[in-house]
Amino acid sequence: MRLLIKSGQVIDPVNGINEVMDLLVEDGKIIAVENKIESKEAVVIDATGKYVCPGFIDMHVHLREPGFEYKEDINSGSRAAAAGGFTTICCMPNTNPVIDNAAVASFVRDRGRRTGLVNVRPIGAITKKQAGCELAPVAEMVTAGCVAISDDGKPVVRGDIMRNALEYAKMFGLPVLAHCEDPQITRDGQMHEGYFSTYFGMKGIPAAAEEVMVARDIILARLTGGRLHVCHVSTIGALDMIAKAKKEGLAVTCEVTPHHLALTDEIVGSYDTDTKVSPPLRSAEHVVALRKALADGVIDCIATDHAPHELEAKDCEYNLAANGISGLETAIAVVMDKLVNTGELDLEQMVRAFTSTPADILGLPCGELSPGTPADITIIDPELVKTVDPEAFYSLGKNTPFKGMELKGWPVMTIVGGKIVAQAGRVIED
Ligand code: DOR
Ligand code: ZN
Ligand code: ZN
Repeated sequence: MRLLIKSGQVIDPVNGINEVMDLLVEDGKIIAVENKIESKEAVVIDATGKYVCPGFIDMHVHLREPGFEYKEDINSGSRAAAAGGFTTICCMPNTNPVIDNAAVASFVRDRGRRTGLVNVRPIGAITKKQAGCELAPVAEMVTAGCVAISDDGKPVVRGDIMRNALEYAKMFGLPVLAHCEDPQITRDGQMHEGYFSTYFGMKGIPAAAEEVMVARDIILARLTGGRLHVCHVSTIGALDMIAKAKKEGLAVTCEVTPHHLALTDEIVGSYDTDTKVSPPLRSAEHVVALRKALADGVIDCIATDHAPHELEAKDCEYNLAANGISGLETAIAVVMDKLVNTGELDLEQMVRAFTSTPADILGLPCGELSPGTPADITIIDPELVKTVDPEAFYSLGKNTPFKGMELKGWPVMTIVGGKIVAQAGRVIED
């Protein structure tokens, strides 16, 4: 099948393109990106006024299958991704059983393939059962398609294990994705520790809980020469250390979530448990620093940390509620509305942070619109205004603090391997 995407603003940072162009797709691949393309047999898509981008990649999602299918499964999560404008998603191993061997990794990869919507790439665990004691078999997980290792959901508490993980992953060229948190400092904290935690009378989690772990992991990255990727960075102190590590030439990268960029801890005063997330929403000064660090390139990429939960996990007292935000179906609109439309982040940088940079970090063969590459394409309508309605989510997780918010700038078409998998926010059924 031939697809001709006409007259869209093509934004392809890798090839230095940001202008109105036509794009031709055939047999699942990009054939040409030129000023004017004519093709008789092609299905024509009019992209006038739209942004035509490489397919967006979310390198940090929780798909919950196997084991927690009442929260999400690979099918519902893939549908959420397609509707949300993502063509590739990488899923964390905190499932049951944990993705800590080739059998579970292959199961996830194959389930993703059979779902046939977006590319699903598993992330293997750092330690067996994510118990923090013994390294998982990286070689066999790589063979089964894992693109990184992580114990996300939990920190790796033991320094010797983290050291060995960095060393071991390095042999396979994989990054270690670190959930940086000192659980003894977090204790039973419920929200960011600061003015609002005092004001609301809630137990706080200081920025230091993240910062001490980032410090340790950077020191271990230096010791081992391994590749460290800091997940969901949320504090000024962590940013400072990451910036220094990069200057020093260490292999350190990091991601930020849309919710940490868009929301502050003040919103926790609603006592809405959908605002509860790990790491917690931070104070305004941290949020300002995160936005600046993204614009300055200290933060490499944006990832959702899509963490869907069932209603019961959130329909309870704040201190009993599960951590997590269902993010796949709002990510692009949140970043467009809060950062791009406000002029804080330029469009090309946003596209890079969602495409070529995560592709580079994970060594994925996507993230650009070069002829010959797989036709993974995300089209965004910068003028479209919609109100976030979790009931319309494909994700089984309706837990979003953005519910009811009106946002401008939404994905309107998702193309994976030359096939249109979602249009106007709805998945295209076969
Ligand atoms: O808020 C979070 N939810 N943070 C994590 O690190 C884990 C995630 C989950 O698995 O629910
Ligand atoms: Zn995490
Ligand atoms: Zn996570």
